[in-house]
Amino acid sequence: MYLGGNLSGVVGASIARVTFMDASTEELRAAHDVLSEFYAEYLAGALDRMPEDRAVLGLFCDLVLGADIGASVGDIGCGTGRLDPFLAARGLAPRGVDLSPEMIRVARRDQPGFEYEVADLRELPFPDASLAGIVCWYSLMYLAPSDRPAAFAELARVVKPGGYLVTAFKAGDSSLRRGGRTAGLGVEFDIYWLSPHEMERRVNDAGFATVFWGGIPPEKEGTSTQGYLISRKA
Ligand SMILES: C[S@@+](CC[C@H](N)C(=O)[O-])C[C@H]1O[C@@H](n2cnc3c(N)ncnc32)[C@H](O)[C@@H]1O
Repeated sequence: MYLGGNLSGVVGASIARVTFMDASTEELRAAHDVLSEFYAEYLAGALDRMPEDRAVLGLFCDLVLGADIGASVGDIGCGTGRLDPFLAARGLAPRGVDLSPEMIRVARRDQPGFEYEVADLRELPFPDASLAGIVCWYSLMYLAPSDRPAAFAELARVVKPGGYLVTAFKAGDSSLRRGGRTAGLGVEFDIYWLSPHEMERRVNDAGFATVFWGGIPPEKEGTSTQGYLISRKA
């Protein structure tokens, strides 16, 4: 469905925020609608096999709880919602948003204990300073350079002072690539493997101070470094 302009539209039972529904965003949304069941299968139990991801997310959980500003966190670009049972088991109360209505349908089906909503991270459905933290797990890699300052400012808007942002991302030279092809489902979209330096600068420019960063080297040629960054809002 295409909805142009600064509108809100109903997608299934969800209120979709569609201010940014340009051709690139529409391609991204449509691709992730197609990818939703693939992700549900391919990533099922993946966190159990990824100690580094669990360690970084676990550190984020401990930092958020240690800040004593509540447990409410946003899972921004939540996909199938696969991270939310882990976050909840570590004491947080996650709510998910995703651009793709099909991802949200799958998240609601597979993670019935949590709330999910269709929304664009560039226009989040959360009041100012309402969350103790946000998780952006491989969801900031699709932002065009011109969108990044406002998008990171929007992330900062919803986080309480002293709250945390954690992001995982494919790290590279920040150049534009086409993603999605390896799934073999006939979809593709723009993606950027952001340099860790740029990711840190964007986050810092939005008002977050770096707390932790890390990375995992590429598994084989052609794959990316995995970057991790935790930062705290001043
Ligand atoms: C690689 S998937 C990761 C999903 C989930 N975070 C996980 O780790 O399983 C990226 C997700 O980000 C979502 N996404 C991309 N751009 C978005 C945007 N501007 N607003 C909201 N969600 C977005 C996509 O629809 C997709 O579900």
